[in-house]
Amino acid sequence: MEKLGGIFNPSSPEMEALSSLTLYTIVTTVGILLLIVAAMIYIIIAYRKNPDDNQEPYQNFGNLNLEIVWTLIPCAIVAVLFLLTCNTMKVVDPPVGDHEPDIIIIGHQWWWEIRYPKSGVITANELHIPAGKYLLARIESVDVIHDFWVPELGRKIDAIPGHPNHMWIVAGEPGLYIGACAEFCGAQHANMHIRVIAETEEEFKEWEKQELVIPPTPRTGLAGNGAKLFQEKACMNCHTIMGTAAAARVGPNLTHLNDRQTIGAGVLTNTPENLNKWLTNPQKYKQGSLMPNMKLSPTEVEAIVAYLEALK
Ligand code: CUA
Repeated sequence: MEKLGGIFNPSSPEMEALSSLTLYTIVTTVGILLLIVAAMIYIIIAYRKNPDDNQEPYQNFGNLNLEIVWTLIPCAIVAVLFLLTCNTMKVVDPPVGDHEPDIIIIGHQWWWEIRYPKSGVITANELHIPAGKYLLARIESVDVIHDFWVPELGRKIDAIPGHPNHMWIVAGEPGLYIGACAEFCGAQHANMHIRVIAETEEEFKEWEKQELVIPPTPRTGLAGNGAKLFQEKACMNCHTIMGTAAAARVGPNLTHLNDRQTIGAGVLTNTPENLNKWLTNPQKYKQGSLMPNMKLSPTEVEAIVAYLEALK
């Protein structure tokens, strides 16, 4: 398992700002807490009842100066945190202006559709970006409210049906950044992983070029059989494979499934063995998923796996 990067492991300018704001807030509030606890302990001990003294203790009714001081200090603390927050918001949400989105991220129950409108690339669950470059993402949903969150890279942002949100995404360094849906969205909310793959500019361009290649459909052998089954067995009612009649958008685009690291938005690593298990009974790995158990025979599963593996 790769390490799950927390908010204190920032890898973008946006997250650095958020991370330090969080740290300042925690240090301030914990400092106040410790001060109060220390004062309480001191007062309890210093002013405890003297067993030899049965007199009512001296009663102190207010102190104007003290009241002013302990009103002003919290006001000052809140004002400083407010200014720091405004500053952070400016860094975290740079203005969108009239920029067209570079990426469209669409939440589905329970996976992420990812479209690059400028190049036409469509993929799922794995967001490739060139490191060091700010990309504008438009976040949408087709069903319920989801929330896109990659803790090392930035803020959370809701994917709301009928109300697109915008967010700048940037990764400081090439690498793999793991995220997840952060808004409860149904049975498989926990299995709506996001992988952000930040690459060098050249690697990203190469990947984009590769994604636009229409793979030839195998006509013979096991893979050829699989291609036929894919069209006959209702797979094509939900999925797209470029260069074939399959052009539906209910499920993930499978044209370059081979290039992806996981299956089912992160429930299984993408290997032929796991693809075989997944096709045999997806409900076993992701109960409630819209991908039904197609009751395929082992030979049919094998053929479809061979087909999907042959798409390159
Ligand atoms: Cu999608 Cu939670």
